[in-house]
Amino acid sequence: MQTPFDLDNTAAYLRWRDHKLNNAITDTNELIVEIKDPRALTQAEHAALLDRCRRSNMVIYAAHTDVDDEDMVRQFGAQFGLNSLDANWLADEDGISRVTVSAEDGQRQAYIPYTDRAIKWHTDGYYNPPDRQICSMILHCVQSAGQGGENRLLDHEIAYLMLRDNNADFIRALSEPDAMTIPERTDENGVARAAQTGPVFSVDPISGALHMRYTARTRSIVWKQDASTLAAVAALEKLLASDLSHIHRTRLEPGMGLLCNNVLHDRSAFSDDPDHPRLLYRARYHERIAGTHCS
Ligand SMILES: [Fe+2]
Repeated sequence: MQTPFDLDNTAAYLRWRDHKLNNAITDTNELIVEIKDPRALTQAEHAALLDRCRRSNMVIYAAHTDVDDEDMVRQFGAQFGLNSLDANWLADEDGISRVTVSAEDGQRQAYIPYTDRAIKWHTDGYYNPPDRQICSMILHCVQSAGQGGENRLLDHEIAYLMLRDNNADFIRALSEPDAMTIPERTDENGVARAAQTGPVFSVDPISGALHMRYTARTRSIVWKQDASTLAAVAALEKLLASDLSHIHRTRLEPGMGLLCNNVLHDRSAFSDDPDHPRLLYRARYHERIAGTHCS
């Protein structure tokens, strides 16, 4: 399988790089596509959404509908070939999580997504085992926060491109199978999730697509302690803190959502309007958005 993400294939990389930079979206307004009913997209709406995903691995839709439930999210995803929901241990039974501030005492409260705190740059499911990689996701906003709760978004292919242009050794180090380790998580019953060691960047051997696992957290992650890994991690941190035109800043409002091939994202802290607490549905899938090939 020829892939531009092969460090030994410079010609394929340069061809892909040209195409990527000529087509990648840098104007956040261009990322947004208005749609009527997420459950039944028109051909034109579907084409417009897919166009953004092919160019930048993500799209923000703005739906004119007051139907927003888990079923709507599932039906929307199915139109992009997304069917294999990841069974998150905290998700409701159907595999779609209700991301909201948890008032109850319990496990959810211990996890940042269920608080009003900021979440640093990451891709979803960076702690998942290789057979349960999160390749795409949908984040649908039912209710936005009283204040805050913005997201920054960066196509992980652009992050790869910028790092590789800077120094191919950064990619080499971050592709090592022991680059990052997420320690095991324990609860009162013992080990709830085994430690996961793996690369940041990996390439699907069949499709040639690029996958990225990353978290900017400094706790509950152990980077390989050698000079090339630490230099690569520092370069990535610098990139994410920069004002790169490919980093989008946005806030999802009710009816809006993000469909993406698990791009890099973060979330700012927020404060809820007590009568209308922030609520997002989050669906994570094991397949990429159909029709988004890497070259
Ligand atoms: Fe996330």
